[in-house]
Amino acid sequence: MTESTYTMGYGEEFRQMLDRRSADSHAAHLMPLLKPGMRVLDFGCGPGTITVGLAQAVDPGEVHGIDIEESQINLARAAAEAGGHHNATFHVGDVTDLPFDDNSFDAAHCHAVLMHVPDTLGTLSEVKRVLKPGGIISSRECIVDSSFLEPSTENTAEEWATFANLLRANGGHPQMGKELKQKLIEAGFSDITATASFDIFSAPADVAFLHAFIGDWFFSKDVIAAATNHGIATQEQFDLWRAEHDEWKDHAGAVGALAFGEAVAVKPRS
Ligand SMILES: C[S@@+](CC[C@H](N)C(=O)[O-])C[C@H]1O[C@@H](n2cnc3c(N)ncnc32)[C@H](O)[C@@H]1O
Repeated sequence: MTESTYTMGYGEEFRQMLDRRSADSHAAHLMPLLKPGMRVLDFGCGPGTITVGLAQAVDPGEVHGIDIEESQINLARAAAEAGGHHNATFHVGDVTDLPFDDNSFDAAHCHAVLMHVPDTLGTLSEVKRVLKPGGIISSRECIVDSSFLEPSTENTAEEWATFANLLRANGGHPQMGKELKQKLIEAGFSDITATASFDIFSAPADVAFLHAFIGDWFFSKDVIAAATNHGIATQEQFDLWRAEHDEWKDHAGAVGALAFGEAVAVKPRS
C-alpha cells in the first residue's frame, strides 16, 4: 500500500515559497465569487497567507482555515492577528474528517492540497458534506508535467519526473491540476469551470529565489534520502542535476514556471 507522507515538509525554504502566495494572486479564480458575509472554509490552509485575503474578501463573514500540521496553524493565527483579520479562525485537523456541521459553508477553497492527499474522492465528498446546497468549491493544484525550467538540458525532464514520482510514492497526485474537472464530476459537483495558469519566475530576484528554493528543498538531504530510499533516483543523478542547476541560475535566459490547474464548481441544490 502507498505510504501517505506530506512530500513538501515544513522547512523554512518551503515556508518562504508559501509566503509569496496571496488570495489575489493564487485564488484569482475564486475571488470574484466571494461576497461580504459569506462563510468560507480554507482546507489545507498552511501558514494562512491565502486565507487572510479570503477573510478580507468576505468580512464581516467568517473564514475557517484547517490544516493537519499545528506549526502551520500557529503561523496562520499569527498572520491573521498581525493583519487584524479577526474573522479568521484556525483549526488543527484532517481534511478527510472535517470538524464542521453539514451544509454550513458558502464556499470551500484549497490551494496545492488535493495533490498531496491520497483519497481525492473521500476528501471531496467530505468537503461537499460541509458545503451548503449551491455552495462553491474551488481548488488550484500543480501540473508537474507542464512545469518547466528553461534553458533545459536532456536531464531536466528526469528531475521533474523524480519530483512527480516522489509525490506519487507519498500517496500524492502530481498531475492533479489537470484532473480536477473529472474528479469534481465523480464527486457529484456541477457547473464546473476549469482554467490553468503558471507561477512564473523570470525577474532576476525571482530566478534567484527559485534557484535557492530548489537547492534548499529538492537537493536537501531529506529529499535525496527519500528519493533514493524509494528507488526513484540515485545520489549520482542528484549530483549531476545539482551542478546543472547552478549553471541554470547564471543563464541570461533563465526562466522557471510551476504549472497549475484551477477549478470552481457548485454543490447541487438537490
Ligand atoms: C503545499 S501546502 C499548501 C498550503 C496553502 N494552501 C498554500 O497554498 O499556501 C499543503 C498543506 O496541506 C496540508 N495537508 C496535507 N494533508 C492534509 C490533511 N489530510 N488534512 C489537512 N491538511 C493537510 C499540509 O499540512 C500543508 O500545510
